[in-house]
Amino acid sequence: MRILVTGAAGFIGHHAVRALLARGDEVMGLDALTPYYDPALKRARLAALGDPAGFTFRPLDIGDRDALFRAAAPFQPEAVLHLAAQPGVRYSLEEPDAYFAANLAGFHAVIELARALRPASFVFASSSSVYGNANPRPFKEPGDISRPLSPYAATKAANELVAHAYAHAYGLPSTGLRFFTVYGPWSRPDMAMYRFAERIMAGAPVPVYGDGLQERDFTYVDDVVDGVLAALDRPGRGEVYNLGQGRPIRLLDMISLLGEHLGVAPRLAFEAPQAGDVDATLADLGAARAALGYAPSTPFAAGVAAFCAWFKAYARATAGPSLRGVA
Ligand code: NAD
Ligand code: UGA
Repeated sequence: MRILVTGAAGFIGHHAVRALLARGDEVMGLDALTPYYDPALKRARLAALGDPAGFTFRPLDIGDRDALFRAAAPFQPEAVLHLAAQPGVRYSLEEPDAYFAANLAGFHAVIELARALRPASFVFASSSSVYGNANPRPFKEPGDISRPLSPYAATKAANELVAHAYAHAYGLPSTGLRFFTVYGPWSRPDMAMYRFAERIMAGAPVPVYGDGLQERDFTYVDDVVDGVLAALDRPGRGEVYNLGQGRPIRLLDMISLLGEHLGVAPRLAFEAPQAGDVDATLADLGAARAALGYAPSTPFAAGVAAFCAWFKAYARATAGPSLRGVA
């Protein structure tokens, strides 16, 4: 299949592209290499793909609709995987403009592209953050997403509504995937696991927002990618699915495990809880299992070990770790 992937230089995008190429798909990747975190990591992800047959990459901003159509239309994608976005819950409280641009205007441009090109499937990234603190756990897809706690979560909830409307009004074969705190090799430096690893290795205190008893349904990136590929292979009708692990982990337990695998005892610095932070997440996987055959299988300890092995190698290769740019 010919598959258009936005956000191809991002954490999840990089892994998705690798998996699609491995199974023989032809991929066009788009990414603006935004400076939200060090673009060197995005370039390194692209470089790590090698120069495989069947892969073309275009550096472009999805908000530039003309450039988007010019690049993507001749490729005639049979499926569109839309991952490009401004991520991060906490940063959205500081810089909401970035979220309106990438996640609303950018999303609009990509979904219009999909409406025009009529791929067999359109799959996009939503987020566990749409559940806020308003739903009983485990979170089920028909739950209440009307009370997001951050601008980021609000843009992802809006994406789901727009995609549903396009499925209903235009027959767009859309599927939204609510990812739950994805982790693994090549992960994002703004997320807790990477931030903590960097500080532990540097002997610096780990900033824990709140009491550290918050729970996350940490999901290993290979499991998420399995769910993404299954969704691409199946034309949706405006549905959304949770892609989580179904196993809550306390933040303090995640930090202890990181310390074990990095071989350094973490020092903790407790800070005020962050506005916009969700207390706890946990995915109900019943719908994703039934529709997509989704069956995450990576034990948390194995996933953290894989992350730490990559982190140490990447830090060595880039002469890190350093605390530069990790405010
Ligand atoms: P990421 O930041 O590593 O990847 C996103 C990529 O999109 C980046 O490479 C960035 O340069 C690109 N991008 C941003 N704005 C763009 C624009 N206007 N035009 C073109 N490219 C642009 O993040 P990720 O963790 O890989 O997340 C991928 C998707 O999954 C995002 O939509 C994110 O909101 C969503 N998500 C991620 C997680 C997680 O835990 N990582 C959880 C829930 C949802
Ligand atoms: C993550 C991603 O950043 C979002 O893009 C994504 O949409 C979301 O997962 C999701 O699942 O939908 P979050 O769960 O907040 O958001 O993940 P982290 O940034 O890794 O934070 C996890 C926990 O660690 C949070 O409670 C946060 O407050 C805490 N934290 C984070 C700290 O205590 N200290 C830090 O320095 C960073």
